Parts: sequence; structure tokens; C-alpha cells
Amino acid sequence: MGEDDKLLRGRFTEGTDEGVERFTASVAFDRRLYRYDIRGSVAHAEMLAAAGVLTEAECRAIVDGLRGIERDIEAGDFEWSTALEDVHMNIEARLTERIGEVGKKLHTGRSRNDQVATDLRLYLRDEIDAVVTLLGEIMTRLVDAAERHAADPMPGFTHLQTAQPVTLGHHLLAWFEMAHRDRARFSDCRKRLNVSPLGAAALAGTTFPIDRSATAAALGFDGVAANSLDAVSDRDFAIEFCAAAALTAVHLSRWCEELVIWTSQQFAFVELPDAFCTGSSIMPQKKNPDVPELVRGKAGRVVGHLVGLLVLMKGQALAYNRDNQEDKEPVFDTAATLRGCLAAMRDIVGAMRPDTAAMRRAAELGYATATDLADYLVRKGLPFRDAYDTVGRVVRHAQEAGVALADLPLDELRRVHDAIGEDVYDAVSLDGSLAARDQVGGTAPARVRAAAAEARARI
Ligand code: ARG
Repeated sequence: MGEDDKLLRGRFTEGTDEGVERFTASVAFDRRLYRYDIRGSVAHAEMLAAAGVLTEAECRAIVDGLRGIERDIEAGDFEWSTALEDVHMNIEARLTERIGEVGKKLHTGRSRNDQVATDLRLYLRDEIDAVVTLLGEIMTRLVDAAERHAADPMPGFTHLQTAQPVTLGHHLLAWFEMAHRDRARFSDCRKRLNVSPLGAAALAGTTFPIDRSATAAALGFDGVAANSLDAVSDRDFAIEFCAAAALTAVHLSRWCEELVIWTSQQFAFVELPDAFCTGSSIMPQKKNPDVPELVRGKAGRVVGHLVGLLVLMKGQALAYNRDNQEDKEPVFDTAATLRGCLAAMRDIVGAMRPDTAAMRRAAELGYATATDLADYLVRKGLPFRDAYDTVGRVVRHAQEAGVALADLPLDELRRVHDAIGEDVYDAVSLDGSLAARDQVGGTAPARVRAAAAEARARI
């Protein structure tokens, strides 16, 4: 039995097998929770003093000792020990080394089970705040760009086939709406997550006269978890975080898929600055959209972590089980990956250079205003189905002639239907088509400007 190993060996006569020690230790990754662990311990010690369980002097010694340990860790001056298993026991053991016997009193009325649940909630609360800020920055840049491009046409697609013209501003505001819902999901997750497990102790609460509301308030929680068994065992708050992250990552991945398409030579709708691209080691002409591709690729691991956590939970009887130690790496990686993707996306949205002329040219191809011609005929009295068939014939004729709808002479158009007049050219023009979609949520430039202003107010 090594020196470090003694903390939990009271009832054992043998030391821990070395392989078991390595297999069960989590300190290599949970040490990143140290700040939250110390914050929780300080709140716990001060509460114990207020409750008369510790003397003021004992509490001072413990709090000062913890602060000193925090400084040491931050200075890189802390030796983490695998034999001490996890972040909690590393810090507790060091505390006793520093301040002597009184350090052993800190763990009165608590357990690592409520401790780790508390740490993880505090950690995720900070991560959520960072994600919410990043999403806000992305939304601001999307609205800025949407305002600039409120009247710039591009083809709108369904099935990636040209469907109807939209404005680039309208398209970017679609991205905005996704980001806005993503942010709301994180804020919602934060509300449910922000209750204190401290005081649940191992699973059943404690015999000491603790004040759970005091530790909750000191740690910025909105209240205390109502049931001690639930408080130490469920990780649904972490799963919710990962679910919100997975949806966000999927949204970012979809935007990036569009950027990959738009930056291709065949589309050439958008150029990314060189700083966001890399070249090929063999093809000198290449400028690859690596950053969007990586954001798209990283969605895979974020989605994977969500599934991993769901499966981690599904077989667990109440209350705490060691399985839960497996929550940390996926949660940490989800948060770090998502933050990286969001920062990259924020910078790309700010830096991308749309080629509005190329987008307009593309919108003029593919008979994108065919529906407008059908709608025009409906306004002249045709039932929509008949108008649809009629326009189908017009499109075929134009295709054979190799011209756009707006290039067909009036007498040819009138041969298809005599209700067609000179005003048809407004209806089938790109800008006429856009301006006509003047309903709430539509792509008319005036609507897009109004929607951008309304979106800005929601940031
Ligand atoms: N390292 C553990 C975890 O991450 C801390 C809680 C350990 N509790 C226990 N009863 N073994 O879950």
C-alpha cells in the first residue's frame, strides 16, 4: 500500500492492485474540475462553520489551505497522484498535508458523490455561458450580413435543384433562426441544471445540521436538488447539454456543407479568405475549405458523445454508480469541440466574401421563376393546376430555344395563353419574383430588412 493510497483503505487489509488503480483512476481527466471542486469545498466549509460543525478557526485554516492549493495548481506546482484516484481526493489529501489534522474535517457531511455532481454542474454552467456568448456573436454577424445582402438574389434550392429565387439575406436569416433556437436550448438546459446536489452526501443526506440553501446560494445555484438519491445519480443535465450541443453541431455542419458547395468552382458563390483554407500538397491550384469541412466532421464526435452518455445511463439502478465517472471525457470533449466549432464559425461568417454577381447569374438559370409565371396565370383567372401545366410547356419551349423565361417574346408567350400581357416580364424577373414574396417570413427584400431588424432585437 503506497502512502497516497491510505485515504480510503480503512476496511481493507491489502493495497489496491496497480492495474486496478490505473483502471479506476480519473484524475488524468477530472483534474480540470479543480476550480469548481475548490469552490464547492470552500462553500461547504463555510456552511459547516456557520452550522457550528467546524470552528471559525478550523474553517479559516481549511479555506486558506484550499486557496493555496488553487494557486499551486494554477502555477503548475501541484503533483497529481493516480493513487489518489480523482481530483477530489488529490485536493483533500494535499489539504491535510498543508494544514495538518484539521484538513481531515472538510469531508464531514458530504461525499464524493454529491461533490462530483456539484462540480460537473458548476463546470457545465460556465460552459453554457460561454456557448451562449459565442452563439450571440454568430447571430450578430449573421444579421449584419443579412442586412448587407437583403436584396441580393441567389437560387433557393430544394433537393439541391434550383427551386425559386431567394435573397442571400433571407438564407442567412434561416441560419440565424437555427442559432437562435440552439441558444434557447442551452439557456433552458441551464435552468434545470442550476440546482445544488450538495448535502445529498453519499445518497441519503447527512446526520449533520447542514444548511443546503446556504451552500446553494454561495455557489450561485437557484435552489437545492429536491431528492438526495436523484441528486447524486442522474446525469440528465449533462445529457441535455450534450443534446443541445449535438443539435447545434448538426446545424453548424449543415451551414458548412453549404459553404463547401458554395466555395466550389462549380458554384463559386462565396470565397473564403486564404487564412481559412489550406492548399494541396500536390495540386498547386487547390484552395480547400478545410475549416468548414472540419466543423462538419466534428459534428460526428459531438453526436457520438450524446449517444455514449445515453447508453451510460440506461442500465443504472439508483443511486450513484461508478459508471458515472465515464461521463466526464465525453462531456469535456463535447464542450471543447463545440466551442472550437462555434469560434471558427463566428470568424467564417464574418470573413466570407459572397460573389453577389455570381449568385445573381445562377438565380437567372434553371427557370427559377417558373412558379411566378404560374401564379401570374392564376391571377389572370386560370386554376392553379392548369397554370402549372401551361408553364410546364413554356419551360420546355424555352429550354429547346435555349433562353430564359424573361427572354421569350410576348407573341410566343401569348400563343401559350392569351391572358398573358406585357406585365408578365415583371412577374418572371428575378427582382419581381423576390419583391412579390412579401409575406411574413418571405424573401422580399423589404421583408428581409424587417426580419433582420427584428432578429437583431432578439440577439
Ligand atoms: N471519480 C468519481 C466520479 O467521477 C467521483 C465519485 C466517486 N464516488 C464513489 N463512490 N466512488 O464519479
